[in-house]
Amino acid sequence: MRQVISSPDRIEGVAVPPGDKSISHRALLLNSIAQGTAHVSNICVGDDRISMLRCLRSLGAHILRHHNCHVCGAEECFTVDGHGPDGLSEPATVLNSGNSGTTMRLVSGLLAAQPFFSVISGDHSLRERPMDRIVRPLLQMGATVIGRSQDTLPPLAIHGGNLRGIDYKLPVASAQVKSCILIAGLHADGETTIHQPAATRDHTTRLMEAMGADIRVDGLSITVRRSRLKSKDIRVPGDISGAASWLVAGCCHPNARIRVEGVGINPSRTGILDVLKAMGGRITVENVHEDGGESSADLVAETSELVGTEIGGDLIPRVIDELPVLALAACFAKGATVIKDAQELRVKESDRILATVDGLTRMGADIEERPDGMVIQGSSRLYGTECQSYGDHRIAMTMGIAGLLARGLTAVVGAEAAEVSYPSFWDTLSEFERPRTSF
Ligand code: S3P
Repeated sequence: MRQVISSPDRIEGVAVPPGDKSISHRALLLNSIAQGTAHVSNICVGDDRISMLRCLRSLGAHILRHHNCHVCGAEECFTVDGHGPDGLSEPATVLNSGNSGTTMRLVSGLLAAQPFFSVISGDHSLRERPMDRIVRPLLQMGATVIGRSQDTLPPLAIHGGNLRGIDYKLPVASAQVKSCILIAGLHADGETTIHQPAATRDHTTRLMEAMGADIRVDGLSITVRRSRLKSKDIRVPGDISGAASWLVAGCCHPNARIRVEGVGINPSRTGILDVLKAMGGRITVENVHEDGGESSADLVAETSELVGTEIGGDLIPRVIDELPVLALAACFAKGATVIKDAQELRVKESDRILATVDGLTRMGADIEERPDGMVIQGSSRLYGTECQSYGDHRIAMTMGIAGLLARGLTAVVGAEAAEVSYPSFWDTLSEFERPRTSF
């Protein structure tokens, strides 16, 4: 799909991003191995949700979709009928994680604990993403795991069961790897302790705690013991990674005010707010409320005079999925912005350093590629042209927002990639292309 975007004179309106992808995956997976029935609502939409649901159902999980649920009152909800840690069964065919790295890595933690054989794979992009980072600790825990390219790439074949706890130093700051080990640790003998090099999103530990797991967080270290989880009803907050597009559009457009409603503001995810504020972004946080251990709020972004900044170190895991769109924001800031320590971007759904630099360069940005990031000299001027999504949802959306800010017309080729996490993205963007008279 080739999406053509123009820049309006004014952007004004409301966006409601879909449910948070990370929390949705954890809510579905952990409730599948808990005892009892949970109602999970506002789960993420798009291809990634299909991937997680498909894998869990192939393992025998009872997950049903309901409309206008008379129990929880949600327009759409999923009931997850958990039968405890031994309630899953051997899948008859290869588990398909699609484009979703979170599905593959979290489900592998679950498979490592199951006394049966399974194979898990994914699409072309996922089959090139590193899996040695989960294979190594799962082997140490006693699972049998083999994969392509000397056990580093999918598909992975796993025969699990009889796990033992480990004390493991994570070589990369990755919430997916952390969660994989914690899920395996729920089923292991003894203690499993993980030491992180930097804090990453903590949705897994929050939810495990809320579901009664024996888990302890001590700074950057987390210890879990074998636990039986109790099912937990969850209303998933809106995805701050989806909201990021509108926050950047609101701050960078010369005449804008965008309200993004119901966004999760877990501190391990709000790096985007910290960075935009450090750049001089006018963002206000309203209607903060807490729901099941996760807070959400409405965020209002308005035209701002941005200045360049440095994004690196421990901040990186808190903005990892927002770096492409922050690079776009940097194009509209006065002075230089340096993004460093972000080599993980090279092993996401695409090489996001390359894809971002390519797309923004085509639009006239002054942006230099570095092995671990990029350096952007802001000029407040981009020019519409044709750019590529690289088959990556975050790149497709970043280029879409760039089109909203650039002079002339922009075309995003492969725009359908946004379906992975935000199927209504282009509809919302089209509404912003047409100026409105009231807010
Ligand atoms: C995710 C963690 C991040 C992020 C991904 C979702 C998660 O990956 O990029 O989109 O849900 O745990 P890493 O933890 O591998 O950096």
